[in-house]
Amino acid sequence: MDLTLELDPNLGRRAALEAALRAAVLDGSLRPDAKLPSSRALAHDLNLSRATVVAAYEQLVAEGFFVAHQGRSTQVGQVHVPEPAPPSRNPIGEPQDHDFRPGEPDPTAFPRSEWLKAVRRVLTEADDSVLGYSDPRGRDELRIALAAYLGRTRKVRVQPRSISVVSGFASALGFLGEVFVRHGAGRVAVEDPMLPFHRDILTNSGLELVHIPVDGEGVVVDNLPDGVDAALVTPAHQQPMGVTLSPGRRTALVEWARDTDSWIIEDDYDGEFRYDRRPIAAVHALAPDRVIHAGTASKTLAPGLRIAWLSLPDELVRQVQFQIHIRGGVSAIDQLALADLIERGGFDRQVRAMRNRYRRRRDALCGRLEAEVDWLKVDPNNAGLHLVAHIIDPKIDETEVVASAAERSVALMGLGLFHQSGRAPGNGGVVIGFSRVPEHHFAVAADELLAALRSIA
Ligand SMILES: Cc1ncc(COP(=O)(O)O)c(C=O)c1O
Repeated sequence: MDLTLELDPNLGRRAALEAALRAAVLDGSLRPDAKLPSSRALAHDLNLSRATVVAAYEQLVAEGFFVAHQGRSTQVGQVHVPEPAPPSRNPIGEPQDHDFRPGEPDPTAFPRSEWLKAVRRVLTEADDSVLGYSDPRGRDELRIALAAYLGRTRKVRVQPRSISVVSGFASALGFLGEVFVRHGAGRVAVEDPMLPFHRDILTNSGLELVHIPVDGEGVVVDNLPDGVDAALVTPAHQQPMGVTLSPGRRTALVEWARDTDSWIIEDDYDGEFRYDRRPIAAVHALAPDRVIHAGTASKTLAPGLRIAWLSLPDELVRQVQFQIHIRGGVSAIDQLALADLIERGGFDRQVRAMRNRYRRRRDALCGRLEAEVDWLKVDPNNAGLHLVAHIIDPKIDETEVVASAAERSVALMGLGLFHQSGRAPGNGGVVIGFSRVPEHHFAVAADELLAALRSIA
């Protein structure tokens, strides 16, 4: 058996070997019953004396980690190794043939040829400095393009120097959490329901979460307590309920942040997709000094790009810049390609085309759900890449709906997964993402979805 062991140089040789062997059993690299190398072979490999190895083996036999046999190899004993903690519930569930899980745009819509042209232009025209280390906030070209784009489309008034390009909002949330903790923060308010992944990221940073309910006007700002260092909110299109934060609540949110000296993290993940009127300005427009506005290319282009951006209050720019510096940001070539796409209008064209495509899909699904499934009531919010439908028949159970759809290869998500308690109020509901299905498959997938839901009645 080939065994790689790291010996701690701060311990004596025998103690270091014993510790490394114990650790190998406990982390599962040495499984129960596995035969250990002979003491001669291990001594040779580790450049130790054979007596040291024999003594270490004897010690581990005495402790029950190893079992010795006369004339045969020593083996690993039946040590109970605790199972690693399961990863948090996978909210997104399993992919299926007809994939109505929320969260991703139609991958077949990615503007491949425009992107290719942009990358070609970048590589042809950019000077060699592109291949060196860049400003940790991101390339100037992209930050300039984003500042103009955000001002034009989201009413975010930000200077390029206050923008940081990050490798996805999830990663940014992780290091924002750590920055807050390092500066003495302990508690962050979050919406309930919310994306469970983001909840886990903040908890993992060492923050305590305060859960604030959401109603028909968005997050209930009156419930935000004092003594909270920041609030993570999705004002344009609450994730997952879809409601847009009302004008009164926007003002109250900003007042709360000013009164309590707290930050607002505005997760503007799909603010570009509004179907019944023009997109509503970001809350950032009301208080650029209090709001960290976050946008992402994950919904407009593709999550695989891992490109998102933060517009930061001046106070936070340097701390965030350092975090990106030590973690690595986004490839300079990809940043320049995105800047090129924005500057030449390709990004806006893509958003417009996708808005039309998703509006069509949403209208089609809403109409059919209303006409064909009498135990579901579709929420009227007209934005984003998913819709929420509430179960109005108490005999129908949310988890059974999701499970029985899965049996027909239709993937949906239950609303309960987004709630802190694991249960949505009332009879629960489902979240139906209408963007992820490839365009050529949408009609078939929609038929399957409707058939699956009809069969439940
Ligand atoms: C609420 C919310 N915020 C942000 C994002 C985007 O995250 P990222 O930029 O890490 O892809 C998502 C993606 O699903 C989301 O649901």
